[in-house]
Amino acid sequence: MAKEKPAPAQKTFTLTNDQTGKSVKLPVLDGTIGPPVIDVRKLYEETGHFTFDPSFTATGSCKSRLTYIDGEEGILMHRGYTIEELTKHSSFLEVAYLLLYGDLPTQKEFDAFEHNITYHTMVHEQINYFYRGFRRDAHPMAVMCGVVGGLSAFYHDSLDIWDPKQREISAHRLIAKIPTLAAMTYKYSIGQPFVYPRNDLSFAENFLYMCFALPAEPYKINPVLANAMDKIFILHADHEQNASTSTVRLAGSSQANPFACIASGIASLWGKSHGGANQEVLEMLDEIGSIDRIPEFIKRAKDKNDPFRLMGFGHRVYKNRDPRAEVLKGAADEVLDDLGIDDPMLDIARELERIALQDEYFIERKLFPNVDFYSGIILRAMGFPTSMFTVLFALARTVGWISQWKEMIEEPSLRIGRPRQLYTGPAQRPYVPIAKRK
Ligand code: SDX
Repeated sequence: MAKEKPAPAQKTFTLTNDQTGKSVKLPVLDGTIGPPVIDVRKLYEETGHFTFDPSFTATGSCKSRLTYIDGEEGILMHRGYTIEELTKHSSFLEVAYLLLYGDLPTQKEFDAFEHNITYHTMVHEQINYFYRGFRRDAHPMAVMCGVVGGLSAFYHDSLDIWDPKQREISAHRLIAKIPTLAAMTYKYSIGQPFVYPRNDLSFAENFLYMCFALPAEPYKINPVLANAMDKIFILHADHEQNASTSTVRLAGSSQANPFACIASGIASLWGKSHGGANQEVLEMLDEIGSIDRIPEFIKRAKDKNDPFRLMGFGHRVYKNRDPRAEVLKGAADEVLDDLGIDDPMLDIARELERIALQDEYFIERKLFPNVDFYSGIILRAMGFPTSMFTVLFALARTVGWISQWKEMIEEPSLRIGRPRQLYTGPAQRPYVPIAKRK
């Protein structure tokens, strides 16, 4: 009988308190690829110390099988498939299936999934009245926070997060209905009537139809735009434990319903440092206005006393390239050429990238275009106002958010997320009556 191989010894990290000389051994956990982690779950119990990592620069919050990013190499993979391959060969709905269920679907599985999503694209007619409460000039992301949060008021039949069937139908409803709500948000902002979804169109075609069709005349789908839209959705689908995904996971850890969790993700994504950057990029390029003004803005971006930053530049994880930005840079050319648009913004963006990437400040800090830098140029060419850009990001990222939420709920040991802190406030002190305060 073959001698059983001894189990590999548990890898550990020894932490020593230099003041007391006391040491603690912490287990090291390995993933499939990527950096190992030091398991600090027993640290407080064994040392009376917390870890301290306020913006989570070195903290793994969970195990996940969905997405892997190699920041040094500029690699982004979903369930092992690179973003380059997925944008070349796949579709957004197929990537949605991959993120939700773990593998690329067979034709039969895909057809069933696509049918399910298609037949959930309509929203309850009462939701139309939500929109009436907003001013027409409300920021579309404010509207989306409201209407998506309100969805849980309509789906009492799928709020039991412990029922796999209800989890699945909530995921399908969110993936299917958020494009409809996003299109309604856009239509409401421009005073045009809502356009109902059509079941004979693909996911991306249907979204463009709901945004740009008018009751007064037939709407012709432009396959170039539909293809670009689908590619943009794929590029924004999921991205490990970014700020909005971590928000969704933390909200979900308290057993909040999936609709409320996705609404919390939308709120977080809206921030200028996160998904809100795609709108900021276009506004920045608008402000720069011409190539000869680029040096003035590069100077401002480097000035510590000036809050101005080059929007669409830099990334917490990517330290050499954002593979999504490279795909979008190529797509910008294609879409503008196909549409016969000569957008001076694209020239400014390209020249800004060229100058910045030669500048010591940006090289030293490894700052270069991220996913938001080129996306806005394409979206504007497609006819979307800048205020809708982050809504489109949220539409696509809903697939990642709900897949991450589902993965977390299906973990055998779901516990509420409850970070600790380093307290720096006053020590205990006696209450002073107001008459005695100086
Ligand atoms: C997204 O996490 C994700 O995965 C996010 C995302 C996803 O798909 O979910 O990829 C989507 O959010 C992309 C990022 C979009 N945001 C922007 O484009 C806004 C502009 N970028 C920055 O605000 C910033 O680069 C962040 C927010 C993206 C990253 O912030 P970090 O990691 O906290 O980096 P930092 O602010 O500590 O900057 C490090 C240094 C600083 O200089 P020093 O203090 O060291 O001298 O770089 C400088 C910063 O001042 N810096 C910039 C800069 N970004 C960082 N200087 C000028 N312009 C910039 N854009």
